[in-house]
Amino acid sequence: MNAGLVEQDVDLQPRNTLRLPGSARWYARIAEPDALPQLLQWADAQELAVQVLGGGSNVVLCSPINGLVLAIAIHERHWQVLDDDQVILTLGAGENWDAVVRYAAATGYRGLENLALIPGTVGAAPIQNIGAYGRDLSDVFESLDAWDRRQGCFRTLESEECEFGYRDSLFKRHPERFIIVRVRLRLSRSATFRLDYGELAQEVADYRDPDQELTPETVAAMVSRIRLAKLPDPAVLPNAGSFFKNPVVDHATGESLREQFPGLVAYPDSGGFKLAAGWLIDQCGWKGHREAHVGVHSKQALVLIHHGNGSGAELLALSERIRSDVRTRFGVDLEIEPRLIGTQGD
Ligand code: EPU
Repeated sequence: MNAGLVEQDVDLQPRNTLRLPGSARWYARIAEPDALPQLLQWADAQELAVQVLGGGSNVVLCSPINGLVLAIAIHERHWQVLDDDQVILTLGAGENWDAVVRYAAATGYRGLENLALIPGTVGAAPIQNIGAYGRDLSDVFESLDAWDRRQGCFRTLESEECEFGYRDSLFKRHPERFIIVRVRLRLSRSATFRLDYGELAQEVADYRDPDQELTPETVAAMVSRIRLAKLPDPAVLPNAGSFFKNPVVDHATGESLREQFPGLVAYPDSGGFKLAAGWLIDQCGWKGHREAHVGVHSKQALVLIHHGNGSGAELLALSERIRSDVRTRFGVDLEIEPRLIGTQGD
């Protein structure tokens, strides 16, 4: 075991964007996939639970972690040209997601522009199938390489095997099993932009230079502007993006809710309706709510904020009160979107 690789009692507060307090009993930074097998063998021998931490932008740290936290810092960018139109972009799991979006957009390849400014790393992107403004990662995803802890080997998983859904994947459902080390994306010069999503459509309509063709860079800049206007910068107001998923209800429930609440924001989805959780929470009066240490963002009720000196438990207590109000008023259950870590003695 490379003793230099593993650190003890590492503070995780600077390593999660909610800036929640907590530490890892054991912590290792992985710069090369090849370092994984030996490290995991060591963790198994010590009977340590293993948690992977990417950018820490989609986790709620609830208590100290007694197991091993792996910080994936694998950096790699590689292009494979398929033909005049398409490329495969291979990325190390530790690459910063937004930096990659800008890098790809600058080359003129399309596919990532709607996903600009999403915090986090490339390796975290497939776990929750990140999405924004009508595009999901799965739209451009080709395959990934991961260490499969059950089979004890590196495996390549193609898109169909990843079981992608709305903010969901095989990896989200089996967090213990896979450690993603590399992701491949299929980008194209000629792909049609997806510009019909409400606020983005408005930005495009307001675009100053309608004679000039849109580029992936201009679209990424528009998306960034929209996000900056509404979503808090984690460096200023610690947060983990949307705290809840947008709930999907069946057709009859959606219709009945629309009758009772004419302003309901609902989009057809899988035979039923996807409801805007932000709207539901807003209607319950939570937007801008502030307690001593935690609160709800004043411009987007879906985002919970840690104002400092609080804990994961306080944030979860607030989220429970919000869930309870939404359940009572609308009969709809909200599901927490970020991953809770440090809750089960790990
Ligand atoms: N709304 C309100 N009040 C609020 C918030 C929203 O009335 O406080 C209404 C808005 O007016 C709009 C609707 O709800 O009509 C939807 O809001 P928005 O367009 O902001 O999108 P969202 O559904 O709240 C989702 C993603 C975001 C993503 C945006 C844009 C989820 C859980 N969230 O938010 O993703 O950026 O769409 O595509 O799907 C994230 O996952 O961390 C994230 C920020």
